[in-house]
Amino acid sequence: MNYRINAPKLAEEGKRKIYWAQVHMPVLLNLKEKLLSESPLKGVKFAGCLHVTKETGVLIRTLRDLGADLTWCGCNPLSTQDDVAAALVDEGVSIYASRGVSNEQYYDDIHSAMGIKPNVTIDDGADLTVEMHNSGNLSEVYGGTEETTTGVVRLRAMEKNGKLKYPIMAVNDAETKHDFDNVYGTGQSALDGIIRATNILISGKIVVVSGYGHVGKGIARRAAGHGANVIITEIDPIAALKAKLDGYTVLPMASAAMTGDLFITTTGCKDVIREEHFLKMKNGTILANAGHFNVEISIDTLKSSSVKVKQINQNTTEYELKKGNKLYLIGEGRLVNLVAAEGHPSEVMDMSFANQLLSAIKLIQVKGSLSPAVYNIEKTQDQQIAKAKLESMDINIDTLTEEQHTYLTGFSEGT
Ligand code: ADE
Repeated sequence: MNYRINAPKLAEEGKRKIYWAQVHMPVLLNLKEKLLSESPLKGVKFAGCLHVTKETGVLIRTLRDLGADLTWCGCNPLSTQDDVAAALVDEGVSIYASRGVSNEQYYDDIHSAMGIKPNVTIDDGADLTVEMHNSGNLSEVYGGTEETTTGVVRLRAMEKNGKLKYPIMAVNDAETKHDFDNVYGTGQSALDGIIRATNILISGKIVVVSGYGHVGKGIARRAAGHGANVIITEIDPIAALKAKLDGYTVLPMASAAMTGDLFITTTGCKDVIREEHFLKMKNGTILANAGHFNVEISIDTLKSSSVKVKQINQNTTEYELKKGNKLYLIGEGRLVNLVAAEGHPSEVMDMSFANQLLSAIKLIQVKGSLSPAVYNIEKTQDQQIAKAKLESMDINIDTLTEEQHTYLTGFSEGT
């Protein structure tokens, strides 16, 4: 069998979900329509390791329809939408992804997807790319793409250490990706996950957001929009200053820990909230993570500081500390927007995945000529995607007059 999924019988439900996403992803679909006659991916083998959601379903169908031979696995043990996985398997796609897999099965799924001996890898978090390197079996690879900040950071570290063996397109670093997906996508979907898991009123709460990068900024803005008082914790002085001037309170975690009602980590770093902080927290504090890996909230020390653990619902766990205070962890500290909600809305994934498609085509076009490094996305690709998105929204913008163009490209006109 060329798949491993949880619930094949959910295929029809999954197809209805993918249909709904597709209706909201016009940029990717228009690109596909334009490219169909050329079959630019014909005969190219793809292995994808990216959350199996309805939006990814649209990407997978697009790659397949453009000629790709593909196989896919999840990039997080708790993010797979089992009905979507079933729908894709029903359509003949080779999927290795299930919600709730153990760590061992998670890596088995990655290795199964690698079995295709890919020419192109599509990754989210770099687990597939790292496993490809560990396998040493890179003879057929032209290159890969990376969807997320954490993955790009990891791959740049590999490059710096001379360990990266094939070129990577940093899809995350496209403006039409991180300025939209990370900001508006996570901003909305992280709160969506917390609300679905707890149904708490955000208004009036003290919400502590760790990290004021694109994701932190998006979440802070949405939480403030709900009527929360937002505190930012940071380690970077520039980001901290931006947060302060955007109107938020900036505090070290040691102080924020004592006042926050809801904590959301977005840093990409480990142990951001740890035992010394749990011990200071108020009774009833809620903890969630919106960063790629489940390392930001130190779960091991949360467990070891607790005398009792109780499951409140599928995505909320109560930890009773020795002094009696109860803390609530959402989604086992994994990506809250994908574990407790459906991930980013289709409208932003439209641009992220248009970037994935164009980057993959680029890798195929230049195959063999790029040295192993992490590459930024060209400005022309960003502009093409932004233009297509605006068109799909029926939005017109101005163009420079000839005089304005001359002014902007010249230097002689001053005061
Ligand atoms: N990452 C965040 N949201 C996502 C989604 N809806 N689909 C795939 N990857 C995602």
